[in-house]
Amino acid sequence: MILIGFMGAGKTTIGRKLSEKLGVELIDLDEEIIKEIQMPIAEYFELYGEPAFRELEHNHLKRLHNESAIISTGGGCVETVENRQLLKQSREVIYLHAEFNTLWSRIMQDTVNVRPVATNKTPDELEAVYNIRLPLYEECADYIVKTDSWSTEEVVQKILNLMEK
Ligand code: S3P
Repeated sequence: MILIGFMGAGKTTIGRKLSEKLGVELIDLDEEIIKEIQMPIAEYFELYGEPAFRELEHNHLKRLHNESAIISTGGGCVETVENRQLLKQSREVIYLHAEFNTLWSRIMQDTVNVRPVATNKTPDELEAVYNIRLPLYEECADYIVKTDSWSTEEVVQKILNLMEK
């Protein structure tokens, strides 16, 4: 199962819960990249730029997309056509959808994750990124799960119900 969605959609949190419930390993793509680069993603962006990061992200997605694990991706994973092809070939791609305003407030409240794509952007600028990505998530998704007015537990339950069908 692969979880996709914008920053703040809850991919890591939901992934963790699903992993516990299903007894299936969780692989976080950003964590895999951090293990390789040995520095925070924000620092890597500053030193080498976004295209270099996207290349790393692609290599890890290519390596992992068929694993029988829960894979939580970074929000920009759908940006390249190569990644979208990999996602379309994968089983059970779940798009965690939320309205932009919900995501914006979650991103602003998150003091732990430094997100280089969101840093220094006005809400309008980040919403433009959201609007570009939205159809890309939809294009790759086997299932779309709305998260706005649902608790983590409820979203997890919705996904478990989908998997049972
Ligand atoms: C990014 C999202 C981040 C991380 C990187 C780039 C993006 O992951 O991969 O900072 O382009 O949206 P999260 O979606 O887990 O924050």
